[in-house]
Amino acid sequence: MKKKILITRKLLRSNEERASKLFDVKLNLNDEVYSQKKLVELSQGCDGILSSLTDKIDEKVINSLPASIKIISNFAVGFGNIDQEVARKRNIAVTNTPDVLTDATAEIAMLLILGACRRANEGIDYAKKENWKWSADFLIGKQLTGSRLGILGMGRIGRALAKIAKSFGMEIHYRNRSKLSPEMEDGATFHESIKSLFSVSDVLSICCPATKETKDIINKETLEYFPSGAIITNVARGDMIEDEAMVQALTNRKIYAIGLDVYKGEPKIHPGYLNQPSAFVLPHLGSATKKTRTNMADLAITNIDEFFKTGKSKNIIN
Ligand code: DGY
Repeated sequence: MKKKILITRKLLRSNEERASKLFDVKLNLNDEVYSQKKLVELSQGCDGILSSLTDKIDEKVINSLPASIKIISNFAVGFGNIDQEVARKRNIAVTNTPDVLTDATAEIAMLLILGACRRANEGIDYAKKENWKWSADFLIGKQLTGSRLGILGMGRIGRALAKIAKSFGMEIHYRNRSKLSPEMEDGATFHESIKSLFSVSDVLSICCPATKETKDIINKETLEYFPSGAIITNVARGDMIEDEAMVQALTNRKIYAIGLDVYKGEPKIHPGYLNQPSAFVLPHLGSATKKTRTNMADLAITNIDEFFKTGKSKNIIN
């Protein structure tokens, strides 16, 4: 008999077709973002859940799920939306979708760097209003060539970004839980502390997972470590930035510009960013290409299939 799977958000058609062949699926045809209560209700009678980053599957939700749920397969590489510890205690496997979104996300990381350094937000505004005049000093930004890029979190996405940024002539520095092998470092300089990394970061790209340790890692105190006029970008999760302190740093020009693809409380954003011309903000587009989204959903489906066939999946994270 086919396993019954709740798919919490609408997937691309080819992915829903494949899931329907493998499982008895409960699809979300209107792509409603389910409340926690509704998610628990809909999971009744199911063996697994294919979740998205918009589902907050915390302790309360996990403890309310029916005992039949054996796997939560998250349609994302990040899994901060799921309390993996509590899931483990309940014997529920949690999986994610690494690798397949690395390049797409690194592209957006580079776009954030370019957009923030070259004042894209202001430029787009002027272009749309048709009220600009070319001049020698019009919208002068910061050039990347020869500048130092600090990468916080040198996992797959961080390393893919390093490769792209090197082709722009940037010098790569990084902080990671552990120092990488020389092959993986590929010429980048490891820093033992965030203080050391931030102090050489003309531009910072946040590429690390959201954990208790990284929550609000950019805050009033750590912002002081940066060179004056640094640029900060975030392609990982909003949790890493203490917004009030960040907005203050942009206002007093300690930080020259910010590039954000992710922020706390999406789709809401701290209002302080909205009236900052130097904030280049995107709506969580990191993995948003057809190829990548198809591959991510495909992997999320495969993770479930493999789990029920073998009792294992190489992408279990808890
Ligand atoms: C992820 O996979 O974590 C991305 O943020 C989804 O776009």
